[in-house]
Amino acid sequence: MTRRTFYLTTPIFYVNARPHLGHACTTIMADAMCRYRRLRGDRVYFLTGTDEHGDKIAQAAAQAGVSPQAYADEIAAAFRATWRRLGITNDDFIRTTEARHKQVVQRILQTLHDAGEIYFGEYGGNYCFGCERFYTDKEIVGGKCPDHQTPLTFIKEKNYFFRMSKYQEWLITHIEEHPDFIQPERYRNEVLGFLREPLQDLSISRPRSRLQWGIPLPFDDGYVTYVWFDALINYASALGFPDGDLYRDLWPHCEHLIGKDILKPHGVYWPSMLKAAGIPIYQRLHVHGYWSLGGGKMSKSVGNVVEAFQLTDKYGYDAFRYFLLREMNFGLDASFSEEALVGRLNADLANDLGNLASRATTLIVNFGRGVVPAPGPEGAEEASVRETLERVRREVDEAMKEFAFQRALSAIWEFVGRVNRYVDSAAPWALAKDDSHAERLRTVLYTLGESLRCLGIVLDPFLPEAAGKIRAAVGTGAPSLADLEWGRLAPGTPVQKAPGLFPRIEVKVSETSQAAGQSSASRITLDDFKKVDLRVAEVVAAEKVARSKKLLKLTVTVGEETRTLVAGIAEHYAPEALVGRKVIVVANLEPATLMGIESNGMVLAGSTEGTVSLLMPDKDLPPGSRVK
Ligand code: MSP
Repeated sequence: MTRRTFYLTTPIFYVNARPHLGHACTTIMADAMCRYRRLRGDRVYFLTGTDEHGDKIAQAAAQAGVSPQAYADEIAAAFRATWRRLGITNDDFIRTTEARHKQVVQRILQTLHDAGEIYFGEYGGNYCFGCERFYTDKEIVGGKCPDHQTPLTFIKEKNYFFRMSKYQEWLITHIEEHPDFIQPERYRNEVLGFLREPLQDLSISRPRSRLQWGIPLPFDDGYVTYVWFDALINYASALGFPDGDLYRDLWPHCEHLIGKDILKPHGVYWPSMLKAAGIPIYQRLHVHGYWSLGGGKMSKSVGNVVEAFQLTDKYGYDAFRYFLLREMNFGLDASFSEEALVGRLNADLANDLGNLASRATTLIVNFGRGVVPAPGPEGAEEASVRETLERVRREVDEAMKEFAFQRALSAIWEFVGRVNRYVDSAAPWALAKDDSHAERLRTVLYTLGESLRCLGIVLDPFLPEAAGKIRAAVGTGAPSLADLEWGRLAPGTPVQKAPGLFPRIEVKVSETSQAAGQSSASRITLDDFKKVDLRVAEVVAAEKVARSKKLLKLTVTVGEETRTLVAGIAEHYAPEALVGRKVIVVANLEPATLMGIESNGMVLAGSTEGTVSLLMPDKDLPPGSRVK
């Protein structure tokens, strides 16, 4: 693997609001990407920070009755503390009120002014204080800001302007010649769309009589610079532009990650500013979509980005981080709800990953006397586990090139699922009963230990805490993608049990049903419910139904009785993975004949978006136990 240099930035966040879900989303994505690139062995530099000048910060400070600087100090400290709490691994945190930044802004302003790129003129236009920019007539929707849906203010005043219009043709050519300059493609097309209209020059100043809270123009101290001209430059000032070592080493590798709301400043203003100042253009702009809220049905459903963010404390940083990365298709919008978060936590983290870590380590401790045994020859099942890992590794690498965290995670979960099925089919507990299977047992335990070791590496960017615990349990140290080669786990490595990596969250029935807002007409009485005889059943045999893609024939025991059931789960469960598992069945359903087989009862399963999950008791219960 070639070692590359990678410099990634987040937007610098306004200090008029405390950190919330939206800020956390971008910062967590950037962190996952930087951790992944470090894991690859790349030289990584990760920058975030705060944007502290401008009208709205001055207004927020005035409302709070403190000076803008004191206000900015407090909120910037809150951002820093939050990122520390969430385990964000940024290398620097820039504030636009720092001297190192102001100097660079003034220097670039002076250069552009000297070169005739900045001129004094008058402009009248519709201004949004939320976005801190003018909107053209075409962009305005119903007389309001398209982003904030608030009325715009008509401002006409004398100001300094940057000759941005001059760069329109150059920018179109640059984007066309560099197909991955702005990604995903829809945002590249959006920027090319902006550039189909004549580009206006950019107002870069405010008269001091109206706004004090900004960086004075070096050539006219009656004016301060306008927020975008100040803010965007942070990406270079943080590296010590123009002659700092970091600037020299990192600038040629600069990539930005932003939300779609600030596409135009990053996709149009910033490259034009860089071009005019003779600074090389950044390499790539990565744009993610927006989270919307309130789609959930829990009674305490979240209503705003701040409340949503508070769920980090309730469910843990890893679970929150996993949800954001897993649930958002990079570039598209996504919907946040507490219910969906708990769903992912229970299904993917507690059930799939947590159970696997707990089962696999317990098996090694119990049947391998706490150390990884030397494996015997690899059988077909082990080869399939290894091949799944090799494929997943390639898929993760491809996905991460495009910031497609969601695809990377779904690939990793294919591996988790494969290993879970392997535990069931290899059944080490059965092998342990017979000494003649000792070698096979060692092979199975080794495969489980090795699978966990690999998960401890590949999960590190996405679930840093849990990955660390998995590595500690299988006795491996600092993770590196170079070690994601099957077979590197040394026999003799001590293993410790890893129980309860992610405890399941019990959702109170009253919470969900109240919130579902069901009318009394659609409810049933307890007596109605009691008519359904739900039982624990053990699957003793399972096979595919001939000529059916969907059906499995299951033989189950319910107490003393053995029955045949037909279930539409063949696309989601391999028959062999079900043998020995306990499921929940409706025991008093009228028999039905499916593909010529009489089914006596129904297996319960939940489903969403193509995922089907059988209900299984989370503690051991004898077949026939009543479920109520
Ligand atoms: N200060 C400017 C950026 C200057 S960068 C040179 C700014 N700050 S902001 O505080 O408003 O942050 C905007 C960014 O926060 C978005 O681009 C995105 O990264 C993130 N998000 C804010 N709300 C969000 C959602 N609801 N969903 C996803 N990300 C969101 O703009």
